Amino acid sequence: MTVKFDLSFVQGLTVSEKAELVSGKNFWFTAKNEDKDIPGMMMTDGPSGLRKQADSADALGLNKSVEAICFPSSALTASSFNTKMLFELGENLGIAARTENVDIVLGPGVNIKRSPLAGRNFEYFSEDPFLVGELGSAYVEGVQSKGVGVSVKHFAANNRENQRFTSTSNVDERTLREIYLTAFETIVRKAHPATLMCSYNAINGVLNSQNYRLLTEILRNEWGFQGAVMSDWGAVADNIAALKAGLDLEMPGTGTDSSEKIIAAIKDGSLEETQLDTAVLRVLQLVEKYHINATKVAKYDKDDQHEFARKAAESSIVLLQNNDAILPIKSSERIAVIGELAQKPRYQGGGSSHVNAYKVVSPLDAVKHSNLNYQFTTGYQLDTENGDEELEKQALESAKASDKVVFFAGVPEQMESEGFDKQTMDLPANQTNLINQLSQANSNLIVVLQNGSAVTMPWKDNVKVIVETYLAGEAVGEATWNILTGVVNPSGKLAETFPQRIQDTPAYGTFNASVREENYHEGIFVGYRYYDLKQQAVNFPFGHGLSYTTFKYDNLRVDPDSNKIKVSFEITNTGDVAGDEVSQLYVQNSVSSIELPVRELKGFKKVHLNPGEKQTVQLLLDRRSFAWYDVESSTWRVDNGEYEINVGSSSRDLRLQQTINVNLGSEAKPLISGNTYLSEVVQRDDLKDALIKSGLKQIIDGVTESDENRELLENIPLRSMVMLGISAEQMSNFIELANQK
Ligand code: BGC
Repeated sequence: MTVKFDLSFVQGLTVSEKAELVSGKNFWFTAKNEDKDIPGMMMTDGPSGLRKQADSADALGLNKSVEAICFPSSALTASSFNTKMLFELGENLGIAARTENVDIVLGPGVNIKRSPLAGRNFEYFSEDPFLVGELGSAYVEGVQSKGVGVSVKHFAANNRENQRFTSTSNVDERTLREIYLTAFETIVRKAHPATLMCSYNAINGVLNSQNYRLLTEILRNEWGFQGAVMSDWGAVADNIAALKAGLDLEMPGTGTDSSEKIIAAIKDGSLEETQLDTAVLRVLQLVEKYHINATKVAKYDKDDQHEFARKAAESSIVLLQNNDAILPIKSSERIAVIGELAQKPRYQGGGSSHVNAYKVVSPLDAVKHSNLNYQFTTGYQLDTENGDEELEKQALESAKASDKVVFFAGVPEQMESEGFDKQTMDLPANQTNLINQLSQANSNLIVVLQNGSAVTMPWKDNVKVIVETYLAGEAVGEATWNILTGVVNPSGKLAETFPQRIQDTPAYGTFNASVREENYHEGIFVGYRYYDLKQQAVNFPFGHGLSYTTFKYDNLRVDPDSNKIKVSFEITNTGDVAGDEVSQLYVQNSVSSIELPVRELKGFKKVHLNPGEKQTVQLLLDRRSFAWYDVESSTWRVDNGEYEINVGSSSRDLRLQQTINVNLGSEAKPLISGNTYLSEVVQRDDLKDALIKSGLKQIIDGVTESDENRELLENIPLRSMVMLGISAEQMSNFIELANQK
């Protein structure tokens, strides 16, 4: 295929033509230039459905868009732990986009869930960067396989909504790399997204849209990103600084304002024209690939996509608790269905991801069309936290007259959306009160949750069943009942921890504490990395989710094979219904002397097993599975030595374990300097020679002979050893010899 747009084409454009191309034409289009035969390209929000606005445009989902399938939000799809499903979701979106002449889908959102109060958690996958990287890559590959580009967002460390345009995320380098950049890095390296969207916020005081280190040094020079970087809508404060930092496309358009500034900057020499050329070329390469050369796709059937939305929800809904195995519900049972959310479900998030759904099937619609013997009462109102005595009375009467109660609870949209953070992790008071009353009226109480992120459950022990459906998309009703009645065996696992209280969470006290600054004091200890370190009791751990069957894990084998380590184990379905199990592989580093999480997810696999069936699962670990980011050397470092491999059904239900010796990196031996403590020196056999040669051994042995002295003296750095009669020359001699090793 001949290339239409190359550097010489760009160089043939006038400065003003170039300037027009690096800022949007309007809300959803890039600029076109008819004289030069450059068409405009259209983009539209995702990530859980297409929000193509036909008429008046806005970024907050306020105006209606064309009808589209509303897939489950990422909070739910992440719980599938199913990369194949995420790929298919991407394909469905890609097909829909192509059919609507949309060239770029704005999504997925791959930010880390740092606090359960973050308003946009519903749109993000997980608290774990490995999981986000794998699921995000599958989604991107799916969309792009249909010739539609994506914009992976919001790059980076955009973990709160309040003051999102101006707040600075103050985060140390190791945490940034290990927690907040990893998913972006994985997706860039693996899935080659067309674009990345830089976020509104700053990192350590530098606005992301003007952050050279982020947009050029890390993204391009280190990770080799070949696509274009666009801004989040309105994220650019200074478009010249942004171009210099590596931002290629400012969105949305600003009339002629931005192009005039560019023309002036080229004229006065404050912007190099070659810099502008680079950005123009990257934008035109997108136009060429995703618009001009866009492949045609066959027209899609909206009902088929609705069915996919249902299946996606069904493979993701998480059965958190099923005491006395009262689920699945049988058709012979009399069911009280309670809650306004059954009638007016919360099935998608608010803000830019809001879709004009094709066909919403509420839980009430779905139960009406089932063979279940049910009675519906509203119970509470969504637009208030106050209880309504009459509604509660009706609900309690219905509960008393039924075998089982299905209570639809959740977080109303006014409490949780893009654009602001949540004030509380609690459900509205009227719902909590009603749960407690219902539990007295009928002990077979089933709570079905619709919410964007973890909620507290002070009522957990009063109810038998808790089902987490998050924001389940337009097929919410069908998917929910299929799980409740056992038509589908639940297989979702939590992609985030459900803590007991907001006070238990890692960023408690600092999240949103300041208007200007968000200080990431908890460092790498986010999500289960924090709860496990603190041995904190939680309501439900990361990776947790029940099934109507049981699984047995056996025969863990770990085979180191060149630079990949093969881990295999067997899973058997030991119950009497078919089911899917998500097995999880966690690595525990027992060798490096740095702050470390107890264990970290480094592999997972979902398998389908019929009753009695056994399957061998194989997972591969590579160097990165054992690496930590060493700020001193700016490299991913692996220390040779012992690691523990844990395999299980959740982060706190580990079934198999093996200690292995890893030899993929360097020796875990830090350089010796004047600041090295004697205790570190005497532990190391490899330094004996250097100690002897430099004459230090005799002196040190002399003073550490007595036990009392030893502990005290070993806690002295080498540079202070003059106290023991060691000369500065002897010491530097030793340090030199030690580091030659
Ligand atoms: C959001 C983005 C979205 C854009 C366009 C912004 O406010 O942060 O996620 O893609 O608007 O709607």
